[in-house]
Amino acid sequence: MSMSAEDLYKILKNVKVGGRVCHYSLKKCEELVPLINEINALKKQQNAVILAHTYVTPDILYGVADYMGDSYGLSKDAMATDAKKIVFAAVRFMGETAQILNPDKEVLVPARDGGCTLADSITAEDVRRLRPEFPGYTFVCYINTSAGVKAECDVCVTSANIVDIVTRIPNDHIYFLPDQLMGQNLIHELSRRGIKKDIRYYHGTCDVHKEYTLEQIQRVQLEYPEAKVVSHPECKPEVCQASDYVGSTSQMLNYMRDSHSRQFLMLTECGLSSRLQVEFPDKQLVGSCTLCEFMKSNSLEDILRVLKNPTDKDRIHIDPAVRQRARKCIEAMFTYAQAERD
Ligand code: 13P
Ligand code: SF4
Repeated sequence: MSMSAEDLYKILKNVKVGGRVCHYSLKKCEELVPLINEINALKKQQNAVILAHTYVTPDILYGVADYMGDSYGLSKDAMATDAKKIVFAAVRFMGETAQILNPDKEVLVPARDGGCTLADSITAEDVRRLRPEFPGYTFVCYINTSAGVKAECDVCVTSANIVDIVTRIPNDHIYFLPDQLMGQNLIHELSRRGIKKDIRYYHGTCDVHKEYTLEQIQRVQLEYPEAKVVSHPECKPEVCQASDYVGSTSQMLNYMRDSHSRQFLMLTECGLSSRLQVEFPDKQLVGSCTLCEFMKSNSLEDILRVLKNPTDKDRIHIDPAVRQRARKCIEAMFTYAQAERD
């Protein structure tokens, strides 16, 4: 069934973050709806699914996405789908993860610039150089890394499971890469839980999350003393420690959904704030959010383009030997995550 401009406007009218990028009038919805309907028809014809990270624009999330969520949830969705083709509206490393888990499927990433300051901060060569410097260490990589980097590491983690998985790894010597702030947050959280491990970490950072400061939180709290502060573990340790809750984007959303509070300061990319405005219009966002230029380089136009005329640049290709080793690293994450529930 096709979508009307009124249907779309009803969903998106409350979105007021991210400036012009994520602001929807009825007129804008009238322009977007033909694209949305064409994409949805092509998806059916081609047996394709669209996976979209929460940070992409709300017209993608609510117009064409079959699955939306955080990187952990989306990698599980990628594994579960039996569609022939996956269009991954996100950044390149997420498309690579989907390809690693689905070697027989075509995976397309429509982002104009699918980079990520974390994933781009370290190469496979860097890891090969580091490993002999840290003999006996388990190398744990954040999912925000290339397939080549994953192939050189032992266990992959995401922001949703890093603390639990590192706790369960039967080695007290851990090298975590590439996010230094997440590494510092990991050390703090393990010690808070009374777990002693020797954690070393690399020096990468996310350009979006490293900008949040304790002073910003304090300023907002002066005006909104009741507001709950919710942050992503890519933020600085003093920011995370001053927060009421720290978690992945989906965990942040669930925290807000389940909380009795009405006001929230969400310290992450604006995509999460726009989802909150769509899904929980009774809750109030205070303070501001920040845009990730890479996630926001996805558009409906480019999704349509990759469905109609994909180029080699849109398609994820991974050398089979690298893919096999990277898959082991991702599967180790699923094994540890499963063990937590058993
Ligand atoms: P999530 O897995 O929490 O969605 O995080 C991915 C990311 O890139 C955050 O900047
Ligand atoms: Fe990468 Fe940061 Fe953008 Fe997430 S928000 S995709 S970590 S640059």
